[in-house]
Amino acid sequence: MPDCPLKHVAFIMDGNGRWAKKRRLPRELGHKAGADAFERIVNYCYDIGVGAVTVYAFSTENWKRPKREVDALFMLFTEFIDHYVEKLKHRSVRLIFIGDREPFSESFRKRIENVEKKTENNDKMILYLGVNYGGRDDICHAVNSLIAEGKTNITEEDISNRIYTSLSPDPDLIVRTGGEYRISNFLIWQSAYSELYITDTLWPDMKESDVDLAIQEFMKRERRFGGL
Ligand code: IPE
Ligand code: IPE
Ligand code: MG
Repeated sequence: MPDCPLKHVAFIMDGNGRWAKKRRLPRELGHKAGADAFERIVNYCYDIGVGAVTVYAFSTENWKRPKREVDALFMLFTEFIDHYVEKLKHRSVRLIFIGDREPFSESFRKRIENVEKKTENNDKMILYLGVNYGGRDDICHAVNSLIAEGKTNITEEDISNRIYTSLSPDPDLIVRTGGEYRISNFLIWQSAYSELYITDTLWPDMKESDVDLAIQEFMKRERRFGGL
């Protein structure tokens, strides 16, 4: 679908824990169901012609969670990376991890680098996966790398060209599931003029039709960018 209204859509995948709690299941199983939803939603975005998708999987603040839950999440990320290329089913998706990789184990970092390398020539969609991602960290990282190059008088354009999602335009639409009205340190810089869509649907329940609803709502918005 070449006339897709979204060049870039971002998702705050929230509500996995509550989804599990409703079913008296451990939170880890909520994340497992969330991983299935992730695949469904990303594939759908690809099929309708979205150019870039950013998903928030683990924030710089999520380390505060119990070790057991953090370990389960990283197990899921590892499984995802290991099977991603074969699961693409001829979809030309370039995968880019966004976030600070410094605290990751050597083997996890290598996995990320390998899958990024394997998909780097895929050109239909970019999938940015936020793991240890923080919007504030994104800006600091960009500024520090500019300073390291001896840059002074840093401009907005410089930062936009250096943030983790710099290969894509800022997101047109940010979708948050789970009903919370906050940004939780997601794309702070990039969201300056993004439309926000918040749904009570819990992430593991997210369906293709929920994406359609978000897009319908987006199409009704009048984007003024400060103009009249
Ligand atoms: C989102 O679901 C996934 C991550 C933050 C890793 P949550 O785990 O935050 O689910 P709730 O908000 O507790 O329901
Ligand atoms: C936001 O969800 C982070 C991710 C979805 C990865 P949280 O559940 O961590 O956000 P808060 O704590 O409710 O703000
Ligand atoms: Mg949450």
